[in-house]
Amino acid sequence: CGIIGFTGGREAQSILLDGLSSLEYRGYDSAGISYFGADGKIHIRKTIGKVKDLRAICDDENSATCGIGHTRWATHGGVTTTNAHPHRVGRVSLIHNGIIENYHELVKEYHLESDLKSDTDTEVAAALLNHFYEEDPKEAIRKTVALVKGTYGFCIMFQDFPNTIFSIRSVSPLVATHCEAGSFIASDLTAFIEFSKEYFIVPEGHILTLTKDAIEVETLEGVSVNPEYMTVDWDVTAAQKDGYPHYMIKEIHEQPQAILRTITPRIKNGLPFFEDDQIPDSFFEGVTDITIIACGTAMYAGMVGKTMIQNRLQIPVTVTIASEFRYEMPILSKNSMVIAVSQSGETIDTLEALRLASKYTDRTISLVNVKGSSIARESHYALYTHAGPEIAVASTKAYTVQCATMYLLACKLGLSLGKMSEADAKEFIKTLESVPDYIEAVIAKASDVEQLTRQMINSEHTFFIGRGLDYTLTMEGALKLKEISYIHAESYAAGELKHGTIALIAEGVPVIAVATQKHVYSKTISNIREVKARGAYVILLSMDEKITDDSICDVHISLPQVPDEFAIFEAVVILQLIAYYTSVGKGLNPDQPRNLAKSVTVE
Ligand code: G6P
Repeated sequence: CGIIGFTGGREAQSILLDGLSSLEYRGYDSAGISYFGADGKIHIRKTIGKVKDLRAICDDENSATCGIGHTRWATHGGVTTTNAHPHRVGRVSLIHNGIIENYHELVKEYHLESDLKSDTDTEVAAALLNHFYEEDPKEAIRKTVALVKGTYGFCIMFQDFPNTIFSIRSVSPLVATHCEAGSFIASDLTAFIEFSKEYFIVPEGHILTLTKDAIEVETLEGVSVNPEYMTVDWDVTAAQKDGYPHYMIKEIHEQPQAILRTITPRIKNGLPFFEDDQIPDSFFEGVTDITIIACGTAMYAGMVGKTMIQNRLQIPVTVTIASEFRYEMPILSKNSMVIAVSQSGETIDTLEALRLASKYTDRTISLVNVKGSSIARESHYALYTHAGPEIAVASTKAYTVQCATMYLLACKLGLSLGKMSEADAKEFIKTLESVPDYIEAVIAKASDVEQLTRQMINSEHTFFIGRGLDYTLTMEGALKLKEISYIHAESYAAGELKHGTIALIAEGVPVIAVATQKHVYSKTISNIREVKARGAYVILLSMDEKITDDSICDVHISLPQVPDEFAIFEAVVILQLIAYYTSVGKGLNPDQPRNLAKSVTVE
């Protein structure tokens, strides 16, 4: 979910609605705001649907200067207006991001049944606050959070405290700022970047009081705390579409720059250099094995890292889905390196996995795109990727910069462990530096990709196949297509398809085959022939200039020649474009796929 609060010298409604639009990637099944009206009372507007639907039911003239807003990704309770936030119980109005796990118990223990109208866990918190509220909002907050189990970012308005927002969080992310326009609080700073590039991360378990003139931060014991402000190095234009029809295609085009921004400061004399990231060389020395933890696309970037690092450095690398890692018995020693990969830095599954890993080793490192985010803060070291804000729900540039950072890390590790000579490392880094140019050349083929997706729009099933690094890449390609086109897509190791799934190949079923790895090229081509012989419509991505044998594929996309390890950067761009144009061709909005949210801060 996305949340925002504003109180200041300006009209709040449009600030809240605009803020919610920029947070919409966090959830978009319903939205709502509450504000102090001219009559001094709290008013609520909420609806199912998107922020534009909320806008339609808000007043054109609204002089309120303080309010809170929410865009929902349903967890407890279906998508209904009653379940949308804000919730109001008695004198309290509240928005929430997270999950209250013990809400059933709380309802029973405090006899809150008659206060509740919705099926949400959130309303129970509003009811509890109202139950404890006498005169002191902070006392009510203290009593409530002492009982609540789970994760939360709350923004609360009390009827008797006009133009004031109270807030507290546990795990769920919140950032805040006081600037010339007033005081802001939000799930992330894209919601108020237009007003301030400076912000602070709301410390967990602290009560914030936002008024027009200041933000007070205090501990639960009432000790006042000075928040530590940070500055972002991007501005509002980075979070706009900039003439592109969708964020996703804009972000696909941004990849060369994003990679350059990420790798250039970390290369010195042609070798990887992490001193500016304050990572000592000792961190890499003596590493015996690597475990990568992540979710979704970040996990697939981890798969690329695994295959590449294991092949190159000959050390064991495991990738574990973060939500599974917690419930396995991790096999880690103090020489194990744990890499947490996350665009947002807030994915709760990854954060909890990292916390567990930290019990076993001091060698945790995160690859994170959002400065100061929880995963970055809680890992021993953070290597920030500099993709800039990624707004489209389906990740593109964040993935390629994660892969590029993983390559840098591999090279550094190779040198430290004596598995790579300096000459090899220099050659490797030189190729990495040329990746942005190759990606540019691939993006230039976008219109060819658009053409070929016409064949895919009406498909129900598609398959992505490859071997080695190509296989890891096809996992991401299949995920992209599923996420935004709703076409069933599966990725298979090319050699595995014949062991079952080939039964699903029928006349015209698209198979996207990636064959960039020379050592398995002929084997992959044989697998392609197997599906072709069963009627598949084969789209082949390879570094061949031309495919002379027409019987292999229906469409061939030729990628620029690069050393095999680096072909993933080119091929993935084609897979991203296939997903994008298929989604657009189906008349869907690729930026906001159904049921998904970009930042998932619930387990
Ligand atoms: C969500 C998004 C995915 C993303 C995953 C991990 O499920 O929809 O696109 O890959 O979270 O996000 P992270 O911010 O940790 O990279």
